[in-house]
Amino acid sequence: MTLRREENVWIPESDLEGMSVDTLAVRAGQIRTGELEHSDPIFPTSSFVYGSAAQAAARFGGEEPGNIYSRFTNPTVQAFEGRIAAMEGGERAVATASGMAAILSTCMALLKAGDHVVCSRGVFGTTNVLFQKYMAKFGVETSFVSLTNMDEWTQAVRPETRMLFIETPSNPLCEVADMKALATLAQDNDALFVVDNCFCTPVLQRPLEHGADIIIHSATKYLDGQGRCVGGVVVGPNALMDEVYGFLRSAGPTMSPFNAWVFLKGLETLPIRMRAHCDNALQLALWLEEQPAVAEVFYAGLESHPQHELAKRQQSGFGGVLSFRLKGDRKEAWQFIDATRMISITANLGDVKTTITHPATTTHGRLSPEDKHAAGITENLVRISVGIEAVEDLKTDLARGFQALQNPSNGNV
Ligand SMILES: Cc1ncc(COP(=O)(O)O)c(C=O)c1O
Repeated sequence: MTLRREENVWIPESDLEGMSVDTLAVRAGQIRTGELEHSDPIFPTSSFVYGSAAQAAARFGGEEPGNIYSRFTNPTVQAFEGRIAAMEGGERAVATASGMAAILSTCMALLKAGDHVVCSRGVFGTTNVLFQKYMAKFGVETSFVSLTNMDEWTQAVRPETRMLFIETPSNPLCEVADMKALATLAQDNDALFVVDNCFCTPVLQRPLEHGADIIIHSATKYLDGQGRCVGGVVVGPNALMDEVYGFLRSAGPTMSPFNAWVFLKGLETLPIRMRAHCDNALQLALWLEEQPAVAEVFYAGLESHPQHELAKRQQSGFGGVLSFRLKGDRKEAWQFIDATRMISITANLGDVKTTITHPATTTHGRLSPEDKHAAGITENLVRISVGIEAVEDLKTDLARGFQALQNPSNGNV
């Protein structure tokens, strides 16, 4: 349930209960001030004032609810938290400075030295580095397994395993995990099941309904949708989120009010954007499958995708990211990318503008050659985050890439 504030009184927003994610994206979490503004207000303030020294003491002592300092709470950030929590169907959300800060805060708050994590191999490269290099320094060991092979998950679990961590669909190969099976494994072993829902957003997939304990988002991606701000959020039950909030309040990787305001605006158009991304991505995936220079296309919307049926059960759409292997190596992949003229060469994804990336040398560039090989990040792999431009114009731009491969000396046609 979300709350709205009227004359400084928090009122349950029960009139939104049971409403669709499309409505929650526009309405949930808004905190209206006494000015009765229609659009979400922004509170760019680091601290808050009190009516008296006694009130300040009561706030600090936790006897009276209310804002103290924006590292703890800020009304604009709370509005964003309320909206995304409602959309995911979670009790509470805690906003963070970035998607990585969301993952770090979850780990720091809920794991301790001696704990063990099982993580899917095909996660965002920096997530892999965070677990492998930094969490290990604090005595948290991580085993990496195939996202889709349940035997590997079962074998990797140990008595000290406290967390299973996945992205589904995965970045960049769009593999899809069986969330119900993983949730059961986590439950049976007293571990938390954490899902990075960045690729689908709550519009296409609500992992809590499939047994996840915690959801992570890089708000930087689709939640913003226009490539403006970096941010993240963790969603889950109150008891766990109280711990994550406690870490954030002490350690400080909080979301700024300005970024929260941008994300609030982003959420309002998320449902219609996601539908446009999905439509364009499916059409491009089908077109790429027909291209002679393409060896393999990865997109869960394709009937050829090994987890197509599972994706249909878990997701209401297949998302906007796809990847493909070109026949060739790094040279061909770079030639292809460099020949495009409209599509942006950038590592970000989830933007209304289509972006193209060479994962092996950018997003996953810090992985060792062995880890890249195990995760399927080959040199001929190209990732496209499909935007909402006219799909025919995207094909025209990508056709420049195919032409450059046929005619390397005349790359920039
Ligand atoms: C799936 C996924 N999770 C997490 C992150 C990290 O998010 P941020 O860049 O906001 O820290 C990314 C970034 O690309 C991502 O793709």
